[in-house]
Amino acid sequence: MADDRSTGLLGGRCALVTGASSGLGRRFATVLAREGARVVLAARRAERLRDLRTEIEGAGGRAAAVELDVLSDGSVTAAVAAAEAAFGPVQILVNNSGVSAQKRIVDMSAGDYDRVMNTNARGAFLVAREVARRIIDASVEGGRIVNVASILAEKAVRELSVYCMSKAALLHLTRVQALEWARFGINVNALCPGYVRTEINDEYWDTDRGRRFVESFPRRRVGDASDLDGALLLLVSPESRMITGSAITVDDALAIA
Ligand SMILES: NC(=O)c1ccc[n+]([C@@H]2O[C@H](COP(=O)([O-])OP(=O)(O)OC[C@H]3O[C@@H](n4cnc5c(N)ncnc54)[C@H](OP(=O)(O)O)[C@@H]3O)[C@@H](O)[C@H]2O)c1
Repeated sequence: MADDRSTGLLGGRCALVTGASSGLGRRFATVLAREGARVVLAARRAERLRDLRTEIEGAGGRAAAVELDVLSDGSVTAAVAAAEAAFGPVQILVNNSGVSAQKRIVDMSAGDYDRVMNTNARGAFLVAREVARRIIDASVEGGRIVNVASILAEKAVRELSVYCMSKAALLHLTRVQALEWARFGINVNALCPGYVRTEINDEYWDTDRGRRFVESFPRRRVGDASDLDGALLLLVSPESRMITGSAITVDDALAIA
């Protein structure tokens, strides 16, 4: 396939997806590639990224794999530079890398706190900062940043204190980013999923506690990563030019239950 692929909603735009090695990020990357984006897959597990690249290319899409550890400032800078070297300036960032720690506050260590906050808030801050600097410097038009937050950015849940804090920080950061970068044509929005079955929570849903929890949901089900396709595509599309500083909740009405 030619480098100037111009089919699909995203017609050859360069998209960087962090946390593309599993779960939602893997799905986001596949959906963007299907819409014609040239997708840079970023995470720590390089072998998984290579497998996904092969899968995307096998389906006629374009992808590159880049190692990224959002806990390392140098890795963030190098990964964004490598993304640009592969496919040109990043126009779409899906800021998706994230981790969780499920413990009561009294059992939460300082190390747990640092790992979750530094991945979900600091890491997302650094990746977006690097991408935005390059968009601004190169006067790239139509930038789109999607910060993958959570309904737990606003909903308090026991045993997920630091995760909730980190997503609240990311949601509010989204608003400040939207303000600062509006004049540079960069739209920044948060995507707030409810519960979707991925490696971050996989074991939990098969426990008695997990099953009882699902029974309390308005639709009594855990979502599938594909349930986020529509919201993602809206937020990265050229059609969402006036949507910035917003959050889209995709949760089967769970947050308001
Ligand atoms: N699943 C849900 O119900 C749900 C709901 C709301 C929000 N979310 C959010 O959605 C995002 C994706 O989560 P998921 O459910 O898809 O979980 P997942 O399958 O565990 O994926 C997490 C991704 O984050 C990456 N990651 C973790 N630490 C990283 C680091 N230091 N540097 C770079 N990448 C890192 C992982 O890649 P490597 O380990 O290969 O680096 C992995 O690809 C997270 O931000 C999560 O908080 C999930």
